[in-house]
Amino acid sequence: MKFFVDTAETREIRELAELGLLDGVTTNPSLIMKAGRDIFEVTKEICDLVDGPVSAEVTATDFDGMMKEAAILAKIASNICIKVPLTPDGLKACKALTDGGQMVNVTLCFSANQALLAAKAGASFISPFVGRLDDISNDGMELISEIRTIYDNYGFETEILVASVRGVNHVKQAALIGADVATVPPAVLWALFKHPLTDKGLEAFLADWAKTGQKIGA
Ligand code: E4P
Repeated sequence: MKFFVDTAETREIRELAELGLLDGVTTNPSLIMKAGRDIFEVTKEICDLVDGPVSAEVTATDFDGMMKEAAILAKIASNICIKVPLTPDGLKACKALTDGGQMVNVTLCFSANQALLAAKAGASFISPFVGRLDDISNDGMELISEIRTIYDNYGFETEILVASVRGVNHVKQAALIGADVATVPPAVLWALFKHPLTDKGLEAFLADWAKTGQKIGA
């Protein structure tokens, strides 16, 4: 499963990219607002930090407006993935953009039927929002299973990008189901490393090693 990070904070992206585990980045208008930076400046900086897809979202809601904004955003870098909302105009734009060779991430997906439409529109990625579904007492991960089944039934190549991830269990469940990508807030990505027995075991090994008085290398 690929890991994208869900943020527009370049300091956090740089730290994660240095680990060699980052496959891409997703942004949205709220994340750009939180970063407090110019969209073009910050998106360009992000595209220089990672080789993989960097999702940049259109804010127009009509087809022509989306296409105009997509053309502008696509010029930022070759790894830009245009993010469009799951609406009739959004999917029309998705079809036109992917037909032209542009990567597209269809966002704000909350049902299996919406995911089916996005795949038919040629989406490169579908972003089902699991956390927001859980927030309203639905089962976000059940949606991921449904989409996996539907895409496998028909051989759709659209990648399932699990979004609105709230914790490490979402990541594990996404991987068990066979989602293609999880876009994860930085704190959740760091939390994936953590296990108390790892910390305890390392502490014990280092204490025993110190008792030997040895060194590896000079
Ligand atoms: C990513 O592409 C989505 O915009 C993001 O994961 C939404 O997450 P949220 O529900 O925490 O805002």
